[in-house]
Amino acid sequence: MNSFKVGLIGLGNVGSRVWHNLLTHKELLTKKSGKTIEIKKIAVRSPQKALKVGVPQERLTTDWKEIVDDPDLDAVVELIGGIDVPYEIITQALQKGKDVVTANKALLAFHGHEIASLASKHKRRILFEASVAGGIPLLQAIQDGLVANRFLMISGIVNGTCNYILTEMTNGRMSYADALKKAKEMGYAEADEKLDVSGEDSAHKAAILCALSYRFWPKVGEIYTEGIESVDPFDIQYAGELGYVFKLLAIIKKHQGSKEVEIRVHPTLLKKDHILSSVSGSFNAVIIKGDIVGDQLFYGRGAGGDPTASAVLSDLVELARYPYVECAPRLFFADTESEYKVMPISEIVSRYYLRLNVVDKPGVLASIAEILGKKNIGISSVVQPEVSSFAQGVPLVIMVHDAKEKFFQEACLEISRLPFLKCKPIVYRVEDFHVQGE
Ligand code: HSE
Repeated sequence: MNSFKVGLIGLGNVGSRVWHNLLTHKELLTKKSGKTIEIKKIAVRSPQKALKVGVPQERLTTDWKEIVDDPDLDAVVELIGGIDVPYEIITQALQKGKDVVTANKALLAFHGHEIASLASKHKRRILFEASVAGGIPLLQAIQDGLVANRFLMISGIVNGTCNYILTEMTNGRMSYADALKKAKEMGYAEADEKLDVSGEDSAHKAAILCALSYRFWPKVGEIYTEGIESVDPFDIQYAGELGYVFKLLAIIKKHQGSKEVEIRVHPTLLKKDHILSSVSGSFNAVIIKGDIVGDQLFYGRGAGGDPTASAVLSDLVELARYPYVECAPRLFFADTESEYKVMPISEIVSRYYLRLNVVDKPGVLASIAEILGKKNIGISSVVQPEVSSFAQGVPLVIMVHDAKEKFFQEACLEISRLPFLKCKPIVYRVEDFHVQGE
């Protein structure tokens, strides 16, 4: 039996589960790939921790270059996270004729185009199933199973940490800080958890999804990104009373006939009976609308050691099965010119939840309605929740019909200047997953 020799760089939460599951599933994976997949060398920062995971001393090194330079290895698995060092590892590995597996969404979002060119120049493969939605084989589905489709929409929950935090806050079980702490303990969060809660991690994943579905790499800075750090429990609770649930969504839409792709990440209100509303904890779920297949839902564990290791192992099996050939599955492309560009956030159309803190006196609502009316923005409901104690003024919650973001933001700016406003308007988008021309 041929062997497929792998060097692993990084033995943290994911790397240690790749090591463990490869051992416990050795026979199965050998049968399925036709080769014995062996991790010959592992680069780690702390050999002591690695020994605790059960890795024999002789396979360990503290120098990743030993792995990249080893002519005997077929593939390198990069699982250290961050950007600069992984960039060096991956580019050098490709240049030295090795295939690569990575879970590094940040690196791909910033350098995916260049890395794809390098892989194709050196006739190597780079697979990264674990970079988006953990254990869900979403990238395989986009590249293979749904290959015949034009994609109208790819949207959903792609960050397990944020979904866990919002779920706990919604159920009233934990505060934001406690839920974040727990998500870190459970191994869902990034080493720098700001990447999760700021929405950046979801934006990186959205860039990858966009690249694979539209052959177009958006610049990360062009992706409108809002995190969950400032979501107030009051809004979660009040949206709940109105029949909505808060989710951090990555939304990618391409309206028919448009060369602009909507690509954005933000906390979003979903109707409680929408299927994504029931996705809780660290689970991820993504809806793909293909022009032939219609709606598809992908659901599963989106974060954590074992789900991510499952995706890494699937990439390794694929590399063991299919070495580079011109028509190997899931070859990473690097188109230089794309017919698409990112739609500015000001151009999107959405429904909105607007919460204002106002002085409780007659005429307030009329002034606000007048500003919205002038911008042709229709109000679908207005509620002034009765709250016994509210730090600043009284809350007024207004739901509005579909409006162009630009006009809605202009209206909010005008509203924020009204003398009876006690703080900046709080705005959340409400999503119904409509795509024009569907
Ligand atoms: N920190 C990421 C998340 C890990 O919470 O989704 C999986 O990419």
